[in-house]
Amino acid sequence: MRHHTTFRQLEIFEAIARLGSFTRAAEELYLTQPTISMQMKKLADIVGVPLIEQVGKKVQLTDAGRDLAQASREVFGVMDRFTMAVAERQGLKKGRLALMAVSTASYFAPRLLGEFAHQYPGIEVSLKVTNREQLLEGLADRLADLYILGQPPEDVAVEARPFMCNPLVVLAAPGHPLAGAEDIPLARLAEEPWLLREPGSGTRAAVERLFAEEGIELRPRMALGSNEAIKQAILAGLGIAVMSSHSLALNPPGQFAVLKARGFPICRQWYAVYPAGRELSVVARAFLDFLLDQERSQGACPDTP
Ligand code: PGA
Repeated sequence: MRHHTTFRQLEIFEAIARLGSFTRAAEELYLTQPTISMQMKKLADIVGVPLIEQVGKKVQLTDAGRDLAQASREVFGVMDRFTMAVAERQGLKKGRLALMAVSTASYFAPRLLGEFAHQYPGIEVSLKVTNREQLLEGLADRLADLYILGQPPEDVAVEARPFMCNPLVVLAAPGHPLAGAEDIPLARLAEEPWLLREPGSGTRAAVERLFAEEGIELRPRMALGSNEAIKQAILAGLGIAVMSSHSLALNPPGQFAVLKARGFPICRQWYAVYPAGRELSVVARAFLDFLLDQERSQGACPDTP
């Protein structure tokens, strides 16, 4: 009966090829030298040509030996990937995923988290919703595995992966005098009473940055602590505001007028962020991949939505 090369023989052969010595291969594999010699003799018999030449004290590979060394590395590579894939699947059977998201992300993050939790029912998920400033404090204290926000921090070393468009638009009450106007200059917008988010909000920072870049002063009428409070204030005729169009997800179309202002929409993206150099858990990595799949299924961000 014809014999086949065993996995063990390949393992020994790979060690000899790599270390250039029977003695060191024997040490690494916790085998005796006669065992190694015997296995290598069997291997050469099965292959039918010499694989190793002894030159003085040194071990050298023949041409066939070099090919076999390459084949062995490939086999072990395939096996390593298989073992890792099994470990990953096991790792996703249970575990925890802690997320922190800025408040505006609360219009879509629970839905995404829900889909993920449905796919991996053994994983315990948690989502803490704060404004940008508190999220950055959480990042510094390593409170979560992943952080979702509208702009990566500039002064902290992070890995930041964009995964979804985030257009910021100007909202007004439907009957607002500017509602039908085209190409409204920023200076004209600045004359309106403005409703801003609380200090520390990423949305507020984006609005302030835009006006500051144009050298236009923005006089806020009122600061409110949430997007929902701002929406109510707009409908009450108290002013206009900039907000992510995601925050309109549950509002019927036409409930607000989206003003056609110059420089808008501000095209931002949503980012998933984690501290640079941090090894993500299997679960966090799977959720990040899940978020990046959203981007792939959505396609590239258009310039104007
Ligand atoms: P915010 O953040 O909810 O704190 O305004 C939104 C963002 O960063 O885009």
